Amino acid sequence: MSSSYRLLVKNAEQVVLICKNGEKYLTKHGMQNVCVIENASVVIGRDGLIKAVGPAETITVQYSGVSFDEVIDATGMCVLPGLVDAHTHPVWAGDRVHEFAMKLAGATYMDVHRAGGGIHFTVEHTRAATSSDLLASLSSRLVRMQRAGTTLVECKSGYGLELQTELKMLEVIEEARRTLPINISSTYCGAHAVPKGKTVAEATENILQVQLPRLKQKMNAGTLKVDNIDVFCEQGVFDLSSTRSILKAGKDMGLNINFHGDELHPMNSAQLGADLEALAISHLEEVTDEGIAAMAKAKTAAVLLPTTAYILRLPQPRARDMLEAGVIVALGSDFNPNAYCCSMPLVMHLACVNMRMSMPEALAAATINAAYALGRSHTHGSLEVNKQGDLVVLNTTRWEHLIYQLGGHQELIRYVVIKGNVV
Ligand code: NIG
Ligand code: FE
Repeated sequence: MSSSYRLLVKNAEQVVLICKNGEKYLTKHGMQNVCVIENASVVIGRDGLIKAVGPAETITVQYSGVSFDEVIDATGMCVLPGLVDAHTHPVWAGDRVHEFAMKLAGATYMDVHRAGGGIHFTVEHTRAATSSDLLASLSSRLVRMQRAGTTLVECKSGYGLELQTELKMLEVIEEARRTLPINISSTYCGAHAVPKGKTVAEATENILQVQLPRLKQKMNAGTLKVDNIDVFCEQGVFDLSSTRSILKAGKDMGLNINFHGDELHPMNSAQLGADLEALAISHLEEVTDEGIAAMAKAKTAAVLLPTTAYILRLPQPRARDMLEAGVIVALGSDFNPNAYCCSMPLVMHLACVNMRMSMPEALAAATINAAYALGRSHTHGSLEVNKQGDLVVLNTTRWEHLIYQLGGHQELIRYVVIKGNVV
């Protein structure tokens, strides 16, 4: 045994492992039974990986005479895996608080979009913004998410809709990955809307012939790292056939498919995603029974976004039907200028109250299953030996307080740990 370690979190009232024995994802049964150990400790090594997690007495004996850079006495506290946010749009300039007022007065999301607002408003401001301004606002948003317990977050481009700004956004995300402790999974979302004055066919052609080839060049040269590809598959945005060709081209470049589907209208996006072996599809407020069955069979995760349905007063995503059918259900904040939410605890709360998930289900959806949706469930999302040492330590004796308490989590979340470092 090496003689020095990064961190010991000792004597916690509860340590929530989520799952044991390397399970890669969880469907309903596992989600209902997230694994909790009472009076337990966690050891994280200098490499940032978990070395031991188990009963406090056993760990005290095993690690006696060993030195730690840092020790947290978690008496009276709970330890959970760091939260994973599987869907965000955090790089943009110009908020849309004025549109919130319009929507409260009755305008729909698509009314605002067709009138040239919505994504188009944000595109205009993001194109005009400098990289350093975008990085500064991205960093402060990511720090807010981190304070609310998020340790791995998916970050999309998609407010450029042309080569230069899409690359600018992806480079800003890459810079945040280099400079901030939070773990990032980055997503090219050049097909987030059809640019003003262009047809769907022209926009698709530009993505296939200009944007993706340039991205591929940069990825091959090692100057840009991108993990996933996304398209907004929706009536009046990208139809099924253009969505298919863009996602397929991204997959051929080695990107994971993780896209917006069946949000405002039933589009058969779920069936398309299953057919392309997508890792995940987000939203799904309008998914059909056939779509749910196809996703369960293909092991395509459903990333449900309770903030969107709440703010836009949409039908709630059918979490219970998906769980019953064996779909891998994950959660995301959907942070964007329409849904200004940095808090996964609030997302879990909404998922429980509005989508009727149980607290263990919501926690599994916001940890191991969200990690699965990002292709990271082998390294993130549960407290298991050799996984990354990302933790949330709560100032309470029962972990469910993270979901039960509605807001004000700065008092509840005592420490956030990433790769064994208190951040
Ligand atoms: O996931 N539905 C499309 N995209 C985002 C909204 C982006 C925006 O309105 O700026 C979403 O909700
Ligand atoms: Fe989104």
